[in-house]
Amino acid sequence: MALPQSFIEELKSRIELEDLISGYVKLKRQGGGYIGLCPFHSEKTPSFHVFPSDQHYYCFGCNSGGDAITFVRAIENLDYVDAVRFLADRAGMTVPEDRESRERAAQRADVLEMNTEAARWFHTQLRANPAAVRYLSGRGLTEKTILHFGLGYAPEGWDNLLKHLKSKGYTEPDIKRAGLAGVASSGRHYDYFRNRVMFPIIDVRGRVVGFGGRVMDDSQPKYLNSPDTPVFKKSLSLFSLQNAKGVKAGRLILAEGYLDVIALYQAGFPEAVATLGTALTGEQARLMARYTDEVVIAYDMDEAGRRATDRAGDLLTSAGLKVRVLRLEGAKDPDEFIKKQGAEKLRRKLDQTEGVVEYRLSQAANALDLSSDAGKVSYLQEAAAILSELRSPVEADVYAGRVAREIGVEKESLLSEAERIRRGRQKKGRQQALEQQQKMLRSGVPRINPERAQHLKASRAEEGILCLLFDHPDYYRDLAEVLTPDDFVTDFNRRILIAFAGAIEQGDKPDLSCLQDFTIEETGAVQGILLGRNRYSGTREELAELIETLLDLRRRSQLHRQPLEGEALRAYLAAMGKQK
Ligand code: CTP
Ligand code: MN
Repeated sequence: MALPQSFIEELKSRIELEDLISGYVKLKRQGGGYIGLCPFHSEKTPSFHVFPSDQHYYCFGCNSGGDAITFVRAIENLDYVDAVRFLADRAGMTVPEDRESRERAAQRADVLEMNTEAARWFHTQLRANPAAVRYLSGRGLTEKTILHFGLGYAPEGWDNLLKHLKSKGYTEPDIKRAGLAGVASSGRHYDYFRNRVMFPIIDVRGRVVGFGGRVMDDSQPKYLNSPDTPVFKKSLSLFSLQNAKGVKAGRLILAEGYLDVIALYQAGFPEAVATLGTALTGEQARLMARYTDEVVIAYDMDEAGRRATDRAGDLLTSAGLKVRVLRLEGAKDPDEFIKKQGAEKLRRKLDQTEGVVEYRLSQAANALDLSSDAGKVSYLQEAAAILSELRSPVEADVYAGRVAREIGVEKESLLSEAERIRRGRQKKGRQQALEQQQKMLRSGVPRINPERAQHLKASRAEEGILCLLFDHPDYYRDLAEVLTPDDFVTDFNRRILIAFAGAIEQGDKPDLSCLQDFTIEETGAVQGILLGRNRYSGTREELAELIETLLDLRRRSQLHRQPLEGEALRAYLAAMGKQK
């Protein structure tokens, strides 16, 4: 489905790309543009550039790039049309409605309705199943909590919910789309959740978007979550955010699972949320940053939890959040801690949690023998590495002082070691960015255009043609007389040419917005190609040369590819004869 180009242009003209992006990325002025840490991959040295002059961005580290729409698609995880809607909201414009988007909106509304109906039904089933109620109260949940979270039970059997939803007029494919049914290879639909206690997942607008279900014994898998549906994406959702978002605690608590969050809620900590069986994502970290400045990580106290804590700590810090880490003794997770030691003790612990730096320092110390000199040296080195990552010199100074006193060395030597590590990393980062940039410009986009490697010369010529056409749509007439998209050797570049040509023939300037059916990665690759524009002088002669190069390569390669007949065969034989 395509939105009118004129609408897209008007929309983009109302959006200031650097404004939009600075809502997500801390940008610094550099040259005529801006630079910052890329939100699409993890990095310590900025390689994410915003070019205000022609309103695009590009990351030399991960090759993501594009315009305002591409950015919103990538960062908000939206498809093209929804990204346009998102920006239109921001710009105060109304998207022209079309049949397809109305259909999808209707589908989403249906899924939400089915979910609500299912949640109600699961709850009714819970009431009819004493064993399930016993399970939940055995886990320490009160009647009030069960009601507040709308917990339920999916009974045994293969089609209980299916029957119920069908009686409400939904079809099997509808129910499957809502993630409430699976399909066997025989084609039969069956209830996705069976014999599990059910946790509805509710979004910040109060809509049931999905479910998690837990078995009541030791069978596997312990938890089952709704698959992604038109209204649910695991990597974007957080359990109980609807409860946590308005809380005045000034913090969010990030726990590992459903029952931790529910136990925390019941113990007086409504600010707890959890991911849904997957590791924390950057989107979830940014989502939290919309509601708070500080997150306390309260993961399980096992090895997996520690690793997850390190990772989450990085992501949350990158999202601009202040991060603290809760450490519990004598319990494996917050749920168990509350049961064993009570809510008051937990509150005290939560209020005196250590910052992520202290946490890392003590993790490093615990792993070493600090009574030996070798142990002290290793600890100081690790401490310097940890301090080298701090952005605030004041913070670095405080922690350096603490470590120095602890081990009995000079604070200054620790700080200068940290500085040395930081410089080294910066230099390496700059070098890497430079190399990546050169590599990208040399080899372009090998993953997106896999044919490029075999047809390097031809695809370079194609890219040159695309660059020239982008800046000089008036050359299109010349071009169209001698070259058709079929003459392009690589499929990817051909698709770009067709898109540009389509825009020009409609009287528009080629623009990234004529690439509506390109993926985000593909759009990034196009942006990468267009970054090479400054290599061309932009004359008609140059275009003619590029076309000639391409057609020449094309002719020569065809000689090998197609069986020769008639005229071509005679010419070929003549050429061979000449060479002998
Ligand atoms: N999880 C999952 N699938 C599994 C196991 C776990 O999606 N097979 C997710 C669930 O969101 C769960 C979280 O990971 O809540 C934490 O898992 P775990 O620590 O195993 O469960 P607990 O929350 O401790 O649950 P319980 O106390 O019921 O064992
Ligand atoms: Mn757990």
